[in-house]
Amino acid sequence: MNVEKIRKDFPALDAGKQLIYFDNACTTLRPVQVMQKMNEYYKEYPSCAGRSNHRLSMKVNEEVMKARKNIANFFNAKDDSEVIFTRNTTESINLIANAFKLKREDIVLGSDKEHNSNLLPWLLAERRIGITRKIFKFNDIEDFKNKIKGVKLVSIVHTSNVDGTSNDVKEMIKISHENGAVVLLDAAQSAPHKELNVRKLDADFLACSGHKMLGPSGIGVLYGKKELLEQLTPFMMGGDTVNNTTYDGFEIKALPERFEAGLQNYSGIIGFGEAVNYLKKVGLDNIESHEKELNKRITGGLVEINANIIGPKDANLRSGIASFNIGNINPHDISLMLNAKNIMLRSGMYCVHSWFNANKINGSVRASLYLYNTKEEVEIFMKHIKDIAKLVR
Ligand code: ALA
Repeated sequence: MNVEKIRKDFPALDAGKQLIYFDNACTTLRPVQVMQKMNEYYKEYPSCAGRSNHRLSMKVNEEVMKARKNIANFFNAKDDSEVIFTRNTTESINLIANAFKLKREDIVLGSDKEHNSNLLPWLLAERRIGITRKIFKFNDIEDFKNKIKGVKLVSIVHTSNVDGTSNDVKEMIKISHENGAVVLLDAAQSAPHKELNVRKLDADFLACSGHKMLGPSGIGVLYGKKELLEQLTPFMMGGDTVNNTTYDGFEIKALPERFEAGLQNYSGIIGFGEAVNYLKKVGLDNIESHEKELNKRITGGLVEINANIIGPKDANLRSGIASFNIGNINPHDISLMLNAKNIMLRSGMYCVHSWFNANKINGSVRASLYLYNTKEEVEIFMKHIKDIAKLVR
């Protein structure tokens, strides 16, 4: 993997800007290839798909179809129609929460380290429908086994945005299926960083966001097994979700259109298709090992200064995320000090307040890496972190 060559594709990393971008778990930078593809839509065929029969509209149809195919291939889906475009991971999870026909007696199981996007939809379902929620300890298979009995839907994060650790989702999916439960994976933080094969995993549903994987903002995906998607009742309907209507009824379209109501974010869809092409060309395995290598260096430096690392000290057990505290320095002060040095990262609770509150931790500083980050950037970062550590009394 040629990082120097990759960096040239990212205008935000132009040498003159001297920017060190370690906030990739929040959102990633975008390569020119994605921007050009998005602009191609606006410049050459700024039209609607699935409705009109003129040349521009046909071109949008074709490009949307290509993007859907790219994404289906990226996840090794059986059929392109198993890819539904949404706004983001949050919308994909909310789609399932509203369309899965949950009933009062149903149980939904999640981990104790879910992002608000995979906590609030179920909290709302508890209030709205009266479902029961159960929570297991993150990546604790024994606890998972203890809680799975009678569960209808397991909705779990794959890789945590707090510390980069992962649930053993392959094993959890197997156990869930043995117990008759359906599984929804929140893959927002895993899909960008490791090879995901929905068929090998046997995942029933999977949610992810384009903007965390070099794609545009405002576009995400819900993958679902065809036979399961067909059983859902769309919760949002409108233009292009039906073949025909009368004043009293409608004839619903096939997958995937029935879930894509109204005019879509076409440039976003097309840009997302280009982003997964880019990732595939670089190779997810290369990206994963590059991030791990950099994270090992960061982790080694953090151990040296006795920082409190969230999650295991072994960087091999985390993806490209290092989440930590230095003494009792407020994490937001650390991110501001780093910002003054042109290093961008995130501090706080990352929309996982529930876990931080339960563990009585007031937040952390989080460096999250991606394919364009370098050893030199890590060295500069660690130099500043070591300077900050000297402030601890
Ligand atoms: N969930 C994103 C993060 O972890 C926004 O920063």
